[in-house]
Amino acid sequence: MKAFFPVLFSSFISFSALAQEPHVLQSDDSTWITIGSDALDSMTSDVKKNFSIRVQKQSVNKSSDAISIVNIPEKNLLSLSQYMHDNHRRCGGYVWHKSLEDAQAFLSGFKKSTEKRADFTIDNAQVVNALLSQMSTSNMSATVQNMGSYNNRYYSQNSGAEAAGWLKTHWENIVGERSDINVSFFEHVGWAQPSVIATVTGTSKPEEVVVIGGHLDSINQSSPSTGRAPGYDDNASGIAVVTEALRVLVASGFKPERTVKFMGYAAEEVGLRGSNEIAIQHNNDNINVVGVAQFDMTGFKGSSNREIVFMSDYTSSAQNEFMADLLETYFPNIRYAFDPCGYACSDHASWTRQGFPASFPFESYSSQYNRDIHTTGDDHFDEEHASHFLKLALAYMAELAKGELNDSGPSASVIQFTAGNIEMNESSSITVTVQRSGDFGDSASITYQTIDGTAIAGTDYQSASGTLSWDIGDGASKSFVVNTLSVDENKSFSLRLSDAGGNASLGSNNTIQVTIQNEQTSGGGNRNGGSLPVLLLSFLGLVVALRNRKL
Ligand code: BES
Ligand code: ZN
Repeated sequence: MKAFFPVLFSSFISFSALAQEPHVLQSDDSTWITIGSDALDSMTSDVKKNFSIRVQKQSVNKSSDAISIVNIPEKNLLSLSQYMHDNHRRCGGYVWHKSLEDAQAFLSGFKKSTEKRADFTIDNAQVVNALLSQMSTSNMSATVQNMGSYNNRYYSQNSGAEAAGWLKTHWENIVGERSDINVSFFEHVGWAQPSVIATVTGTSKPEEVVVIGGHLDSINQSSPSTGRAPGYDDNASGIAVVTEALRVLVASGFKPERTVKFMGYAAEEVGLRGSNEIAIQHNNDNINVVGVAQFDMTGFKGSSNREIVFMSDYTSSAQNEFMADLLETYFPNIRYAFDPCGYACSDHASWTRQGFPASFPFESYSSQYNRDIHTTGDDHFDEEHASHFLKLALAYMAELAKGELNDSGPSASVIQFTAGNIEMNESSSITVTVQRSGDFGDSASITYQTIDGTAIAGTDYQSASGTLSWDIGDGASKSFVVNTLSVDENKSFSLRLSDAGGNASLGSNNTIQVTIQNEQTSGGGNRNGGSLPVLLLSFLGLVVALRNRKL
């Protein structure tokens, strides 16, 4: 993982160590690196001579993301790293390649311009604010705990595949009845753990895609297969942000114009393998990915004076600026900075390599990252810190994908009976209460009806049916009256609610039994018609109404 010389380390981890192919480097071998052209340009010819740097190819791309291929003796790499660290505040600051061909392949990955592909306008405040009003930070903690309950989420282990399965099921539950959202596995050939993708098909520009993702795997560096790797910060914390953004989209009935794909990537810790396959597939299929947001490590406050640090390398500077603008527009109290990671340190690099604009908002300056990652000790999650990333994700989703809140959409309020089963005397009358809870920002309605059991409508009770309606802002309980006729023995029928309308869905207490007591068999005596149950139900209704008011 990240050390002073992470470029070599991560290259070894991803390409050499895992392939069981130890690299022995001759100290005077010449070697190939790719390096930011800006850094190269700022070196005097003396510095270049000192390092014996020979520039093989100066990238033609004049943007700040431009990268050059450089030849340098192996023995000078460490001191170059030191120089980059001192002069460019970069850890490593370059990527090592085992051959010129590899360096060229790496560079040609950055083939498309990542600039000016999407319209980075900020004009969807109504949706942003509606989304923000739905966010829950405790949901994020719950996601982190569930993901962390697997021994590890290593890409080749059963537990790693099971964790991906849990995430898929969790996302399916969140998505519920929305037919415009599909949740599926992206299976990988060669290892057990799938990636998980929830696709929300855009309403008017479905061919343009916004990706919000993070890796779902975890690793215990000293014992990858069997070691405990809770991976709370790295990276259940990113999955928690992605998951809560999806939940908020559904809860608020947001219908984006562009397609939004929520992604949990497999096998990041072993060389960005899952995201690499997914990004390659998007490129091969000519899918127009207009923006990618990577959430990897959001739950540890490493920097005392910055909440969000945008990784400045392997990312799109245009999109980074857009995200910074989002913060300044909507969250002026979230302090941010830019800092290079120093190498292709997370899944954003897979997308960048395929020419898509990607950004990586990170929890701290790269030097102040959480030192517990990749160990059994990565079991802390600061939901308050993660909430800054959730806010950014929601604003990003609403402003890059655009779109509106669907009025008839979500199940933002729930309608059900206030109380359970009822006992009534024969020839009596009762008022049955129906309550509405949740969000009253829209109108709502429900229909009710009586259904025969042993008691028959017209003979044992009077059938009743109708519609109860609520206006915008109305959270009061509604009621209807049920009348029983005389019976010669105890009989029962049911009351049922159905056809929830407006922003309401049917609660679980939607069918109750009414038992009609025959006066003789019930022993008569101290019953006084329906008034006791009526009182009780009204009291319950009052309690619920008061509770709802407080919420
Ligand atoms: N979340 C880390 C990346 C990270 C760590 C970024 C510390 C900034 C500070 C990620 O999961 C990871 O561990 N990446 C690997 C690289 C990958 C190519 C194997 C790493 O850093 O070694
Ligand atoms: Zn990691």
